[in-house]
Amino acid sequence: MARERRQSQGASFLPCIGNVPFSQSLMDAQTPLLKPSEWDSLFYRSAEDFFRSHAGVSLTYDDVSLATLYSEVLPREANFETALAPGLTLHLPIVSADMDTVTESRMAIALALNGGLGLIHYNMSPRQQLSEVSRVKNHVHGLIREPIKVSPEQKIGDVLKVIEEKKFTFSTFPVVDSSDKLLGLLPGHCVRARFAARGVTEAMVSRAGVLTIRESELGDDPIARADAFFTDHIGIHKLLVVDDMDHLRGLFTLSDIERITQERSLQTKPARDGKFRLLCGAAVAAPRTTSGDLDRAAFTSHLEALVERGADIVAVSTAHGHTQGVGEAVQQIRAAFPDLPIIAGNVTSAAGVEFLARCGANAIKVGQGPGSICTTRVVAGVGIPQLTALFVCSRAAEACGVTLVADGGIAKSGDIVKALTLSHAVICGSLLAGCPEAPGNIMEINGKFYKQYRGMGSHAAMKAGSAARYGHGKDTALKSAAEGVEALKEVSAPVDSVLAQLAGGLQSGMGYLGAPDLPALRANARFTRITTAGLRESAPHDIIEVKATTSEN
Ligand code: XMP
Repeated sequence: MARERRQSQGASFLPCIGNVPFSQSLMDAQTPLLKPSEWDSLFYRSAEDFFRSHAGVSLTYDDVSLATLYSEVLPREANFETALAPGLTLHLPIVSADMDTVTESRMAIALALNGGLGLIHYNMSPRQQLSEVSRVKNHVHGLIREPIKVSPEQKIGDVLKVIEEKKFTFSTFPVVDSSDKLLGLLPGHCVRARFAARGVTEAMVSRAGVLTIRESELGDDPIARADAFFTDHIGIHKLLVVDDMDHLRGLFTLSDIERITQERSLQTKPARDGKFRLLCGAAVAAPRTTSGDLDRAAFTSHLEALVERGADIVAVSTAHGHTQGVGEAVQQIRAAFPDLPIIAGNVTSAAGVEFLARCGANAIKVGQGPGSICTTRVVAGVGIPQLTALFVCSRAAEACGVTLVADGGIAKSGDIVKALTLSHAVICGSLLAGCPEAPGNIMEINGKFYKQYRGMGSHAAMKAGSAARYGHGKDTALKSAAEGVEALKEVSAPVDSVLAQLAGGLQSGMGYLGAPDLPALRANARFTRITTAGLRESAPHDIIEVKATTSEN
């Protein structure tokens, strides 16, 4: 009886063609001719069948390809919506990495405007991190928050000098006093050399003649409000925003509003919270006391401040998430903030997913060593190629009711499609580090332009604060083995165009797999293993490429 049960359990692990186990069917010379769909399922296999039949071998993105399926889905109709946690839905399943050369407020704003999410890194003081989060949460697309102003004491000649020095392409300026109170508007047609000796106050339209809007009247959709204003006021090109005390708080220009309203019909929906503010995530590190215990007071007070600023999700990011320390940190956040979405990681095992889910995480980061700047596998001999890690973790995630975020190793849009067959979103570092929105200056080397991109486990980043992520103290970090390198990325196009290319690739993948949405992509995916010859065949070959293929195209 027991033997029978074992046999039947064993057989249930084998992929089947009809009721006949796969391996038996292949060996059986009497197998009747297969139906067309049976040939497909024999060679192109569901995640369950495919990864079980490769148990003991770990595979990554370039080891597999996805089979096409009957489709009624037009790529442009594919729906990217993904719920990472209760109440936290993205319209593009792309998250920017919480790394100090990738995500600060500019990157997080760009991600959220495209429907994704930015995780503000924590290699900065807690105060700085709070103000980065505030910048994202207070961002109003199209509203110039700090417009260039002139003072009533200036001469028109002074204004002309500034325009020339700063190479401004506009010449209309609000006039304010030293406390930013609005006094008038200097119109561009008066800013001419012939009037250089005249005072700004002589030429400006005085306060009573300047049309403004109160910040409190902008409502849920400031762009629509400004758009309606410009339609109602023929010939007006600037709309000044003031607070209740008539201090200048910002400026809309007609050209910006027209560009944004045109783009709106093309763009994916921005990712916003219930108050119409852009979504923003923040990475947190659990601070320790000198005796090594979790510094609960400091941790809670920073979390409270993040929540007060409007952070929508916090990420407990470490190299090894299946640890007592990370578990304690996640439990503490969950106890203090029962509804705050938490991403925690990184893990590559089902047990790790189950552990973090039990501690209270909603989304689990999967990835140990796949990142472009990672050396964990070289240094520690540890880590799992990403696709197998995702499959194993996905089994536990489904059972525990949490979502998965595939973190690291995404080099092209095809990798995103493959990752999303087993996860709910991807985290990108390298693909975004060359964008102008990433922190850091552009440097020129031999006529080419680069930005710095460094691992958070590199010596330089650990010295700047990320040592805890790799289990080291800040002062001992330099003596420890680095688990990341410092590198350069060639400067790339702005985030909008990089994401548009990645989203285009994802749409194509979903179209090929007949998947109208991401749950269908996960359900439909059929995998096949490819060889080095297959991989070579997968990229342009035997030609002289005129324009190199990049991750963006
Ligand atoms: P990509 O491939 O997008 O990977 O550049 C970004 C992810 O890599 C992880 N990361 C590191 N992993 N050593 C590591 O082993 C490091 O120094 C390091 N820095 C970042 C991280 O998960 C990030 O999202």
